[in-house]
Amino acid sequence: MVPNMAGYVEFLRRFLIFFVAVLCLSSATVPKDQQRKITIKSIPCPTHITECSNTTYIIHVIAESTDKQNSMHYLWSVIGSPTIIAAYFDSIDVNVSIDWNHVLNNNSTKGITFTQTSLHITALVIPAIYEFQDKKDELFYTEKDVVNTIVKHGFQDEVTHWEEPEIDHKNNVTTFTGKMLGGTVIFQCNASAIMDRESILPHQQFSSNSTVFTLTLHKLTNLQHKGHTRFIFELVSFSEDDSSTCVTAQKSLDDEHTPAVFKTIVINSTLGSHSSYCAWKPVAYLKESRKLSNQVPSFSYFGNQHRFISNKQCQTLPSSSSTEDFISIVSHLKGNFISSQMNISFGQQKDGWYDGPEGSRYLTWSAVVGYGTPIKDDFSMLVWLIIFIGFGTPMLLIFITIIYVIIKKVKAKKATSSYGMIN
Ligand SMILES: *[C@@H]1O[C@H](CO)[C@@H](O)[C@H](O)[C@H]1NC(C)=O
Ligand SMILES: *[C@@H]1O[C@H](CO)[C@@H](O)[C@H](O)[C@H]1NC(C)=O
Ligand SMILES: *[C@@H]1O[C@H](CO)[C@@H](O)[C@H](O)[C@H]1NC(C)=O
Ligand SMILES: *[C@@H]1O[C@H](CO)[C@@H](O)[C@H](O)[C@H]1NC(C)=O
Ligand SMILES: *[C@@H]1O[C@H](CO)[C@@H](O)[C@H](O)[C@H]1NC(C)=O
Ligand SMILES: *[C@@H]1O[C@H](CO)[C@@H](O)[C@H](O)[C@H]1NC(C)=O
Ligand SMILES: *[C@@H]1O[C@H](CO)[C@@H](O)[C@H](O)[C@H]1NC(C)=O
Ligand SMILES: *[C@@H]1O[C@H](CO)[C@@H](O)[C@H](O)[C@H]1NC(C)=O
Ligand SMILES: *[C@@H]1O[C@H](CO)[C@@H](O)[C@H](O)[C@H]1NC(C)=O
Repeated sequence: MVPNMAGYVEFLRRFLIFFVAVLCLSSATVPKDQQRKITIKSIPCPTHITECSNTTYIIHVIAESTDKQNSMHYLWSVIGSPTIIAAYFDSIDVNVSIDWNHVLNNNSTKGITFTQTSLHITALVIPAIYEFQDKKDELFYTEKDVVNTIVKHGFQDEVTHWEEPEIDHKNNVTTFTGKMLGGTVIFQCNASAIMDRESILPHQQFSSNSTVFTLTLHKLTNLQHKGHTRFIFELVSFSEDDSSTCVTAQKSLDDEHTPAVFKTIVINSTLGSHSSYCAWKPVAYLKESRKLSNQVPSFSYFGNQHRFISNKQCQTLPSSSSTEDFISIVSHLKGNFISSQMNISFGQQKDGWYDGPEGSRYLTWSAVVGYGTPIKDDFSMLVWLIIFIGFGTPMLLIFITIIYVIIKKVKAKKATSSYGMIN
């Protein structure tokens, strides 16, 4: 019996090695994603145009696939409102031409043209933030006693000065910093060269077809009301005419990468065989060093109602009726666009509000804007191993023991019957 059992243990050992090898192989076949070469160009506003300031720029990012078959072009700008435009082309022979006279004229709908026709184009604009007073810690701005305290702060009107954008060519990042309400607003855009996960929380996944951006409100002080302030961010997503756009949640089975968060909110847009998205983990952070202890949830709203975003259906967003209410480079882009609008607010009970005595006067939120579909959060190798060792091994042992007992019984029966024959 002893050598027999050793045989089974050896079998089990081999099975484990085989299983791990299969897992390694399967995790190596992640969705195909091309690596891209990133070039960031800053296009300054020529100073002979009167509306120009010497800090007015449009940042043009070229992300060419390494096989030179296609390219992503991003335009990042804070003219009027923080804006990201993402366009996909099936060639690398693309340029953008900018007519600043039109771009700086609110009444014009021209001025920005790509020299080739894009296969797909999308844009995200954050036209405004709103403050509201949440004295009873009810969190949602739609509560009766809160709704009357909402005050709009459009970026166009409230940012008194944008500094010259800071370009970090090594990390493929551009940072726009502005003076707002006695504090600072920071809009940072990172172009992705490869498919990866943010190095900081919430460790959002991104593909090489996307821009990861962060919007930060630091030390805003000149607020209308004080002491119990929370913020709303207004998001307007643009896609080509005839696209269908909706919001859904992508569930993940574990929260290994973002503690306490099991879903990603996705605004997706499809036209023909092409699609694009804006996606974020429904969280924000109250300190510069992002940790679970300063992570607060975000809430979604549209039609001025708090909405639970589920993975069961893709909910249609209202189109923005107020495109004239804000200024963004999107309105100067060639083509016909439709817009979809939603709001998000942030906070958690007892977090001290933005500007309470315990408040940190800091709020930072990140999201991804890209071409294609968002990359799903999946179990990592470690989690698979834990699941396997936790459930698989005992099951396997039980199974092997049953087989072993059956074989032994059959053998014992054979042995007794053959004894009978001899006798
Ligand atoms: C920036 O993009 C280049 C490709 O152009 C890439 O090699 C490099 O790793 C990227 N930098 C970072 C920090 O991702
Ligand atoms: C922009 O112009 C202002 C004065 O109009 C000057 O003080 C500042 O140094 C200039 N900035 C740059 C980056 O040239
Ligand atoms: C793109 O446009 C810029 C400015 O108009 C020009 O200098 C550059 O040569 C163009 N590049 C290509 C590849 O056409
Ligand atoms: C555009 O609108 C902004 C604010 O709405 C205003 O300050 C600016 O003067 C306008 N510019 C033109 C050219 O109409
Ligand atoms: C923009 O339109 C408004 C109203 O139609 C007009 O008063 C203003 O002069 C126009 N501005 C420019 C720069 O054309
Ligand atoms: C963007 O890049 C900068 C510089 O590498 C990095 O500090 C920051 O964390 C990145 N932002 C995100 C959201 O990943
Ligand atoms: C958005 O994604 C959901 C879930 O993946 C899908 O069911 C829906 O068809 C997509 N909608 C659009 C407009 O792309
Ligand atoms: C976002 O909030 C503002 C202020 O309450 C409101 O005017 C706007 O309609 C809201 N947008 C949506 C899509 O609910
Ligand atoms: C990114 O774009 C390339 C080029 O079309 C495509 O092959 C790839 O699947 C896209 N990646 C994602 C994650 O959509």
